[in-house]
Amino acid sequence: MPTGRAGRDGRPGFPYPLDGRSVPDKKSTDLDGARAEAQRRGVGGYGRHVFICTGPDCCTTEEGMAAWTRLKSRVGELNKREGATPIYRTKVGCLRICESGPTAVVYPEGRWYGGLEPDALERMIAEELGEGRPVPDLQIGENPLSLE
Ligand code: FES
Repeated sequence: MPTGRAGRDGRPGFPYPLDGRSVPDKKSTDLDGARAEAQRRGVGGYGRHVFICTGPDCCTTEEGMAAWTRLKSRVGELNKREGATPIYRTKVGCLRICESGPTAVVYPEGRWYGGLEPDALERMIAEELGEGRPVPDLQIGENPLSLE
């Protein structure tokens, strides 16, 4: 199994693939920087992933960006808790709901949320991300993902 070459920043690359099969050198070389960045970002250690839409159709861009800024800050706090399951957060341009946003979805549970104005967003963060329990009155759908 390749051990991974140093990325752009000189840190070792991700040892790809995880199942131990070899990969062509060209691909390995082409992706070393991305592998190093994924490793630096903690990919492989996350238990949950939240995506939030920053508008402009489900909410204004200003509302969406304010929600993103708040989510980013609060997830950072949650990830510092002792024994926390690390959460990854990503802003997106559209989740194709386009009504009553800001809109978000949390995986692996696949719980979709709408109307995440500041107070509602705080509840979603505290209850869903902080305590791992759904917030039914803010939920707009559910689509858990499974590998089975
Ligand atoms: S613009 Fe937010 S879901 Fe489409």
